[in-house]
Amino acid sequence: MIEHEVIIVGAGLAGSWTAMVAGQRGVKDIGVLSKIHPLRSHSGAAQGGIAAALNNARPVAGTGPRGPLEPVPQGEDPPDSPELHMFDTIKGSDWLGDQDAIEIMVNEAPEIIYAYEHMGCVFSRLPDGRIAQRRFGGHSAPRANYAADYTGHVLLHTIHEQALQHGVEFYSEWYCMDLLVEDNVCRGVVAMDVLTGEIHTMRAKAVMFGTGGYGRAFEVTSNAYANTGDGVAIAYNAGVPLMDMEFVQFHPTGLYEHGILMSEACRGEGGYLTNSEDERFMERYAPDKMELAPRDLVSRSEQTEIDEGRGIGPDGKGIYLDLRHLGAEKIKARLPQIRELAIDFVGVDPIDDPIPIQPTAHYSMGGIPTDADGQVIANADGQVIADADGTPVVGFYAAGECACVSVHGANRLGTNSLLEASVFGRRAGHAIADFVQNGAELHPVTGDPAERNRQRVARLMDGAGSESVEAIAQELKQTMTDDCGIYRDKERLAQAMQHVGEMQERFKDARVMDKSKRFNTDVLAAFETEHLLTFSEVIVAGALAREESRGAHYRTDFPKRDDEGWLKHTVAHKGEPGEGPRLSDKGVNIDWDRFPPQERKY
Ligand code: FUM
Repeated sequence: MIEHEVIIVGAGLAGSWTAMVAGQRGVKDIGVLSKIHPLRSHSGAAQGGIAAALNNARPVAGTGPRGPLEPVPQGEDPPDSPELHMFDTIKGSDWLGDQDAIEIMVNEAPEIIYAYEHMGCVFSRLPDGRIAQRRFGGHSAPRANYAADYTGHVLLHTIHEQALQHGVEFYSEWYCMDLLVEDNVCRGVVAMDVLTGEIHTMRAKAVMFGTGGYGRAFEVTSNAYANTGDGVAIAYNAGVPLMDMEFVQFHPTGLYEHGILMSEACRGEGGYLTNSEDERFMERYAPDKMELAPRDLVSRSEQTEIDEGRGIGPDGKGIYLDLRHLGAEKIKARLPQIRELAIDFVGVDPIDDPIPIQPTAHYSMGGIPTDADGQVIANADGQVIADADGTPVVGFYAAGECACVSVHGANRLGTNSLLEASVFGRRAGHAIADFVQNGAELHPVTGDPAERNRQRVARLMDGAGSESVEAIAQELKQTMTDDCGIYRDKERLAQAMQHVGEMQERFKDARVMDKSKRFNTDVLAAFETEHLLTFSEVIVAGALAREESRGAHYRTDFPKRDDEGWLKHTVAHKGEPGEGPRLSDKGVNIDWDRFPPQERKY
């Protein structure tokens, strides 16, 4: 049995911030589990920037530490402020984001950027030395602070180093299999050391999930292979309900047929989207914001062009992202990674030719419901604690993409996810330090949880099953893409529900081919696929129930937003075996005087 004061699952930005802050606060014994090498965590794949209203794109008079401050050309931009960032985020969320949490995030944003800078993060700079900022979709001002197009990579390395400096122990390539909750108290996790295949019970006073998203439930995705939603599925299996799972974001510019992210920074720097008729079609859908409308709208517009026969590529499922007019110098300086990826994967140099792209499953707005300090606001009986009454799962925290605070509501704005992971990862670190230093205990666990999980592996290895895990995973991705993708309707969603149920049944008869113990990726793929099946059912159930269109959830049979009926979060509770999820709802926190719901136009 392994014991720590705090166990964090996931070494991306959220988990690493929590670990670093808890370490800084004097928590001595922190273990971070990562199913891959920590520096390969998916936060590192975020390219274009992290949002904060620094207002650096405004001219400043006077002299800075490096000499005269050079004004930056203005255009029509309003002065930026956290208040404007808040409004943009609320509007981007289609009024489903909780406004109290959004306010915390935007107010702490500038401080987070300076914290990164002081830890040595190499942001791109303006000529006068201030941090450079670029435009992103749905933001009213240049607000994305960036390190060329390697922003997530740079931030992740910065925080990882700091976590190491504070004595945090990283378990690299350890796979979390189970969350241990008894009597509503979180007691630890069960995890496999992938290298040896050994399975361990790991006890802790507090457990934090920063396990990331689940784009791998779809056929084309920008997400890493590791993004199989293990954390949300494990929490759900432990009785914790999931919130707003129907909201899945499709990023407008994934590399054609690969899904790899071609950063929104391409459009932030001035890139165009064109169809097979060489039209800048966004004129039809968002005449004001054009390519810099929010992602839900741009992806839908692309899909409409594709569905109406104006797509590009052999199957007509692509669109062009044209950067040629930006010129070689700008592309090389600001978008070097994009250029390299386009050359390596599709043989296109964006300096000379437009890049073929397509919408790609990118981000999960829903997840484990938490408050703004990362405390999971649900109990293990599946109830959400919507106010101060009631007891959530004691000692269980979550932040980042696996969590739902909810700051993104029905649609996230680009660059708000690195921000969210940083702000709420940091806050969770403080909350956990308070919890541990105020007398939290290491609670006993009943029975032998590691042995229970060894038996799960043995059933997969030794059973006489005939179903291929890979075939089920591929079929699921196809179903989710075809029937629960950018455009949805009752018929297709009902069909998806039925298919997912059938695949869950078939999975009971799944087999793994590799019977070895060490580094058995076949076994991992089986657990990952089981997790995909678990939460996909929740996505479809939410999408079927929500009879309206809001943000990334677009129902062709209910094309309007319905605030009377659906200005609320969906909450999915695990049903009895053989039953689908049970749904309830939770109110949205709205400041009715400042930001009442409005029509969302761009
Ligand atoms: O497009 C991008 O660079 C992605 C950023 C994000 O998802 O926030």
